[in-house]
Amino acid sequence: QLDGELTYVQQESEFFDLDKSQYGLKEVRCEVWEGFIFVNFDNTAVSLTDYLGAYGKGLEGYPFHEMTETYSYRAEIGSNWKLFIDAFAEFYHAPILHQKQAVKDEADKLMKVGFEALHYDLQSPHSMISSWGGMAPPKDMNMVKPIERVLRSGLFGPWDRPDIEGLDPLPAAVNPAGAKPWGVDEFEFFPNMSLLIWAPGWYLTYTYWPTAVNKHIFECNLYFVPPKNIRERLAQELAAVTVKEYALQDANTLEATQKMLETRTVTEFPLCDQEILLRHLHKMAADHVEEYRNASVAG
Ligand SMILES: [Fe+2]
Repeated sequence: QLDGELTYVQQESEFFDLDKSQYGLKEVRCEVWEGFIFVNFDNTAVSLTDYLGAYGKGLEGYPFHEMTETYSYRAEIGSNWKLFIDAFAEFYHAPILHQKQAVKDEADKLMKVGFEALHYDLQSPHSMISSWGGMAPPKDMNMVKPIERVLRSGLFGPWDRPDIEGLDPLPAAVNPAGAKPWGVDEFEFFPNMSLLIWAPGWYLTYTYWPTAVNKHIFECNLYFVPPKNIRERLAQELAAVTVKEYALQDANTLEATQKMLETRTVTEFPLCDQEILLRHLHKMAADHVEEYRNASVAG
């Protein structure tokens, strides 16, 4: 029996008037969007579909269900959960922080011309950013490392798009600017889920679970269409380890930033326009905290 009823109690007669029907598993609110299961302890919250809003609606029909080959990473991080979202929600850091990932000529070019994402959008409390991604495949093979040339894969994923329905055309919310050199969309579903849809036909999620004000558990899950042969599998594995390498570089500064914040020596950060999603995240979080405080005072 799998409906959560309590069916057996060891030495039941030693309890007094035990009514087993009262001690089954507690029900929690649970809703499904495109195969993702969301649990919500707040029974008065709006429906999941309403909460996910325009992005949720606009992503419907993406072939999530075809992408059942998964790779997962999980880390305990000594920083507030918002710091890791900050590290992922802009791409302006890439030319400096990830410069060793590119072959030298390409890294130098990026340093000189700078970096600008393709598109930014806010649908409070959520937000999204689109970035270009000319590396899948690159215009010139000399732009990428030998292993990427051999396996036809890299950070942006395996270069050969899987032949499945739902990728052409993509749902309306994907690549909203209709940009030709589009490579990836990152949707920040407030508060703690990021969904990245990559041009070559795969996706990943990041989830951030706060365990203390200065600690969280980070989870990264990558989803691909199951490989049909060894070469496709190796291409996916290269994408998975490359994403992990980038994420380690992104995570590298988090604990130091947290320590610095805790000294309260630095109290302000300047943020540029490319970091609008960070400003939005902190505004949303601050608004929620204020709403909670006001409700507590009123209560
Ligand atoms: Fe990064």
